[in-house]
Amino acid sequence: TSKKKSSYEIVTLTTWLLKQEQRGDIDGEMTIVLASISTACKQIASLVQRAPISDLTGVQGAVNVQGEDQKKLDVVSNEVFSSCLKSSGRTGVIASEEEDVPVAVEESYSGNYIVVFDPLDGSSNIDAAVSTGSIFGIYSPNDECLADIGDDATLDSVEQRCVVSVCQPGNNLLAAGYCMYSSSVIFVLTIGTGVYVFTLDPMYGEFVLTQEKVQIPKAGKIYAFNEGNYAMWDDKLKKYMDSLKEPGDSGKPYSARYIGSLVGDFHRTLLYGGIYGYPRDKKSKNGKLRLLYECAPMSFIVEQAGGKGSDGHQRILDITPTEIHQRVPLFIGSVEEVEKVEKFLA
Ligand code: AHG
Ligand code: MN
Ligand code: MN
Ligand code: MN
Repeated sequence: TSKKKSSYEIVTLTTWLLKQEQRGDIDGEMTIVLASISTACKQIASLVQRAPISDLTGVQGAVNVQGEDQKKLDVVSNEVFSSCLKSSGRTGVIASEEEDVPVAVEESYSGNYIVVFDPLDGSSNIDAAVSTGSIFGIYSPNDECLADIGDDATLDSVEQRCVVSVCQPGNNLLAAGYCMYSSSVIFVLTIGTGVYVFTLDPMYGEFVLTQEKVQIPKAGKIYAFNEGNYAMWDDKLKKYMDSLKEPGDSGKPYSARYIGSLVGDFHRTLLYGGIYGYPRDKKSKNGKLRLLYECAPMSFIVEQAGGKGSDGHQRILDITPTEIHQRVPLFIGSVEEVEKVEKFLA
């Protein structure tokens, strides 16, 4: 008689993390930090999905360090992320798009990991219920910047020292990921052993493993650029963009897809192939996206999936930030597509 088929094993993010810890790919402290991040993302998912009901659409009435009108949910998501990380007790320093300077976490008592994050990416889409996301990266602790918290050193002098410890190149990332709030709530994570995708099952509020070791297609005829900026691009980039519109030997030009959320445009690029770009232009000399908590985490993920993340000339992961909100141009996606634009820009 054939063995009764065991009921299929559901792997949740929690059980997956415990398995990686058992294998020694992450330590117990990192496991707790990642679990606290997934909790923050679940809370943000529910806030985003009910925003119009709970009067959480629209602006907060403040301008952030980026010079952007903060949305109410930018502020709330930042608070949710910060408090989940602080209560984990394993996070030493946090740096957020919505915080002017890094925050040294007094509640930290072990692990002391450095976590950088964009608590709500694509927040201009909130009022129209178009996909948004959260992006994060985790660096190993750099204890000297945390020395003497609570002694005579005032927190802000510690925070100044922590700017140095936060400004690390993406090559140092231990983990990176994002949560996309869309038709499904999708949690994507790499700890350096490939890219894993989890889908939130709202029936019992757990992220369930739905894809493992994702590989981005080597090429893809989908491009995601804000062509509204075309007139301000330099000539080499214009030539690249024009070339995508020629039918070429396949007889079909590229397709344009752009939703104005890096997380949404990136996730489609990761699964379908293609390229997302936010180039520099005459107005924004370094482009718009922030190196520390948007470009570097996404570049770590795309390289783990066999793709490429570039500023047009060099690997994003090789760039060491000089300040935490530094912007860089970004071209990210299928290797052949990123190499194509790099050739035009050479
Ligand atoms: P954020 O909402 O975190 O400030 O990021 C918005 C970014 C990115 O998500 C998106 O791809 C890009 O801004 C859109 O910029 P444009 O509206 O200039 O195209
Ligand atoms: Mn913003
Ligand atoms: Mn963003
Ligand atoms: Mn944001």
